[in-house]
Amino acid sequence: MSLLDAARAVRENAYVPYSRFKVGAALRCPDGTVHVGCNVENVAYPEGTCAEAGAIAAMAAAGGREIAEICVIADSPVPVSPCGGCRQKLAEFAGPDVPVVLATTDGATYHTTVGALLPGAFDRAQMARS
Ligand code: THU
Repeated sequence: MSLLDAARAVRENAYVPYSRFKVGAALRCPDGTVHVGCNVENVAYPEGTCAEAGAIAAMAAAGGREIAEICVIADSPVPVSPCGGCRQKLAEFAGPDVPVVLATTDGATYHTTVGALLPGAFDRAQMARS
């Protein structure tokens, strides 16, 4: 199954009673392992989690520490754009050149990278004097 198909499939499990906006994410680790996530909302709105965060949590729980590629899909008019928080979460486990494929359920795709999504990211090197 392609990464895009994995993201499309897990999107069906999104728990979105408030926004009704289902998002699916699938990431691949360097060893080929795929982890998926969907958005899970909460009546206390800020407690909801994004699809990307779910996929990253699944990867970490399985022992994964590096993202080689990630795909995100939603039923949006243009390819869905990860929120600022998820861009930072991606940068924790993915270098700037890691490919990001953003997709719509209609079949449109936008190919970008973690570095293009979050230029000038805060990273651990900036804490070198701490
Ligand atoms: N959402 C994601 O899961 N990923 C994105 O890249 C964009 C936004 C979710 C959060 C919330 O559950 C819903 O989409 C509407 O913001």
